[in-house]
Amino acid sequence: MSAKIVMVASGKGGTGKSTVSVLAGGRLAAAGQKVLLIELDSGLRSVDIISGVYGKTVYDIEDVLCGRCSGEKAVVESPLYPGLSVISAPYEGGEVQTQALQALCAKMREYFDFLLIDTAAGMGAPFRAAAACAQQALLVLGADPVSLRDGRIVSDALYDGGLHDIRLVLNKVAPASFQNGLVRDVDECIDTVCAQLIAVIPESREVQFAAAKGEALPAGCLAFTALDNLARRLLGKRVLLAVH
Ligand SMILES: Nc1ncnc2c1ncn2[C@@H]1O[C@H](COP(=O)(O)OP(=O)(O)O)[C@@H](O)[C@H]1O
Ligand SMILES: [Mg+2]
Repeated sequence: MSAKIVMVASGKGGTGKSTVSVLAGGRLAAAGQKVLLIELDSGLRSVDIISGVYGKTVYDIEDVLCGRCSGEKAVVESPLYPGLSVISAPYEGGEVQTQALQALCAKMREYFDFLLIDTAAGMGAPFRAAAACAQQALLVLGADPVSLRDGRIVSDALYDGGLHDIRLVLNKVAPASFQNGLVRDVDECIDTVCAQLIAVIPESREVQFAAAKGEALPAGCLAFTALDNLARRLLGKRVLLAVH
């Protein structure tokens, strides 16, 4: 095995990076893929709750990157999404070292089909370390001018750094997103960010509740279908963008 390494980034915080990482990872796992999700957002972690591993982690990514334990010891299986494994971020931690993350990815990719690296907001050390490891980037952005403009800065930085496979995930999209006169349509989002669109995830009460309570996203809701389509596109399948 040699996992595909995908980083999840945004620029702005709170766009849904961690939520999309867990839920898309869960759908990849449901499609038979072995997925490891590594959360680098130290201090502002949320993957542990969304994936249901809260309270089950002994070691975190900081322990691994500092050499306090091996990568395998920090891996916890999600009880909500079978086949999805997680290495959680710490409550607090030092700067993520690029070389240490590269070494971890080189080791772990032998055991998985996908390594998803959920980064922190901004373009600091976690972002730079993830970019040095990743073959593909998912930019999870809201359909608003500020989120999109920051996304463009991030996509330019990735592109300049040599990572050219960058895909746009529009998240928390609602009819109102395009009715307030701020952003015309999905095409404007694509043009602003200069990245190919891979998913449009609706603003969803089901996502919000599942993520907050640490429960599995119910199958059958619109967001579930959108995330399943995202996973299938990551696997190279041709799937329509629209979800009804
Ligand atoms: N599609 C969605 N619909 C509704 N709420 C969402 C959606 N995606 C994310 N959220 C909510 O947005 C908030 C921030 O999500 P999170 O994944 O922690 O963002 P980030 O990792 O980018 O900081 C959380 O409360 C989460 O439940
Ligand atoms: Mg996050």
